[in-house]
Amino acid sequence: MDYNNLKVPAHVGIILDGNGRWAKEKGMNRTEGHKEGAKNLKILGKYILSKGVKVVSIYAFSSENFKRSKEEVTFLMNLFTAKFSEELNSFHDDNIKVVFSGRREKLSKKLLYVMDKLTEKTNHNTGGILNICLNYSARNEIIDMVKKINNDNIDNSMIDEKLISKYMYNELPDIDFLIRTSNEYRLSNFMLWQLSYAELYFCKTYFPDFNTDEFDNAILEYTKRDRRFGKIDYSK
Ligand code: FPP
Repeated sequence: MDYNNLKVPAHVGIILDGNGRWAKEKGMNRTEGHKEGAKNLKILGKYILSKGVKVVSIYAFSSENFKRSKEEVTFLMNLFTAKFSEELNSFHDDNIKVVFSGRREKLSKKLLYVMDKLTEKTNHNTGGILNICLNYSARNEIIDMVKKINNDNIDNSMIDEKLISKYMYNELPDIDFLIRTSNEYRLSNFMLWQLSYAELYFCKTYFPDFNTDEFDNAILEYTKRDRRFGKIDYSK
């Protein structure tokens, strides 16, 4: 789709949901849904960044997701490790900068190694940022931010929105547009600070089927939204 006459958000957030149900409805194991979701994410992430969006933040694994069965957690951690090593060159070739948000605790050495490699290799890329939230909780991000500010002995008079944004896991602009797939209407502890003024978009499609056409439809809807940030246009 031609994006020239559309409003393009600078920062898109995606709460990807429905991998398990996608697989279940097809009589497959949940893990097949995750594999398909990961495949889709690669195509979708690159498509979104090619359309002028500057940052895409995706909720790959919440801190709460550790409560899932040991088998599913192990499968996902291995899938992340495999995908990040496989895609090391492809993200770099596409000039995409990859960053991670979340706590490092509970992640294996092997996974942390490939995450660090991906971050280092793509650090100077300029074709957009893919922020992968892994072992992520927005409340933990706020707790960690407060601790860092405290450790740095920052005076209260210095604390404002800009400084807080600097002390988050990554210094990113606010999210303009949040998409959640699979018919769930929750924020689930995702980037609460950055979502303050976001337009919210919920759709029924399970994430593995949320393709580039579905994203185009979401952007058509975003283009129609009137973002006022608390102001009123009295001339209307
Ligand atoms: C969402 O569906 C699945 C997750 C949040 C965990 C795994 C995410 C991926 C495999 C995609 C990202 C991949 C990479 C490589 C970063 P769900 O399991 O919550 O589905 P359900 O609600 O239908 O059970």
